[in-house]
Amino acid sequence: MNKICFIGAGNMASSIISGLITKFNRDQLIATTKTLESANKLAKKYNIYTTTDNKLAVKQADIIIICVKPNMVKELIHDITSELNTNKLIISVVAGIPINTILNWCEQQLAIVRAMPNTPAVLLEAATGLYANEQVSESQKKMATSIFSAIGHTEWVTEESLIDVVTAVSGSGPAYYFLFMEIMAKIANKMGLDKSTAIKFTKQTALGAAKLATASEQDLSQLRKQVTSPGGTTEQAITSFIDNNLEDIITQAMHAAADRAKLISSKFK
Ligand SMILES: NC(=O)c1ccc[n+]([C@@H]2O[C@H](COP(=O)([O-])OP(=O)(O)OC[C@H]3O[C@@H](n4cnc5c(N)ncnc54)[C@H](OP(=O)(O)O)[C@@H]3O)[C@@H](O)[C@H]2O)c1
Repeated sequence: MNKICFIGAGNMASSIISGLITKFNRDQLIATTKTLESANKLAKKYNIYTTTDNKLAVKQADIIIICVKPNMVKELIHDITSELNTNKLIISVVAGIPINTILNWCEQQLAIVRAMPNTPAVLLEAATGLYANEQVSESQKKMATSIFSAIGHTEWVTEESLIDVVTAVSGSGPAYYFLFMEIMAKIANKMGLDKSTAIKFTKQTALGAAKLATASEQDLSQLRKQVTSPGGTTEQAITSFIDNNLEDIITQAMHAAADRAKLISSKFK
């Protein structure tokens, strides 16, 4: 029975833990925090073993999931490196720190997976991109898939640089949709609907569209065309989006996110 240890258990780790307790035995899970107060809170909430002793936790674990803020990782790795070896799988959900940087800090070859989940993980609706280095075995990849499948959808990418693209599409993506919804609700309110109704219709429309897109076999442009009758109202709005270069706006935004991810990574190289 594999033991999974979270090093750092704030927002992201808590989301993953709440998914894992539905699929794994609680005694397979360990979590560490900086303060005893957080450790006690977490133990009470999830009924799992928690500690502030990272080395002790890593010693007991087969899979170590690093979930601290990026500026904490170097110190943490130095602290636990004596307990790491090639039989243990390290999964880093830390944004922006390349695998080679972690290996340099460890001063040893290790099996490392980089994971980029997103915030809908709290509702077990995450989209997680995963990348493995050469040391990761097939059975370790399966374990990583089963961990992140507990909080939503997972996909493996074949190059580490593609994690920056995952960041630009799904990591940062929830905020793009929030902005779009914020604007739609604001305009519907300005056009006469009361604020609460405008917000409810906007959210329900986003949910309905996402569910339709997920359930359908058709591609996204076919779905759009189906609800765009020639000469109809939707066509007017879509034509306005196209004439105003919506694609250019989205292209620039996604490149800006990916470029920022690259820049952050380069600072940790
Ligand atoms: N949130 C997201 O949407 C998202 C998405 C993708 C990736 N990530 C990545 O997830 C990581 C964690 O983000 P978060 O939002 O979950 O952060 P967070 O809520 O601030 O949690 C950080 C956790 O780390 C613990 N910690 C700090 N120093 C530690 C140490 N030396 N040893 C053990 N535990 C320590 C903290 O313990 P205390 O509570 O005791 O201080 C806390 O439990 C980040 O690297 C981020 O890049 C986040």
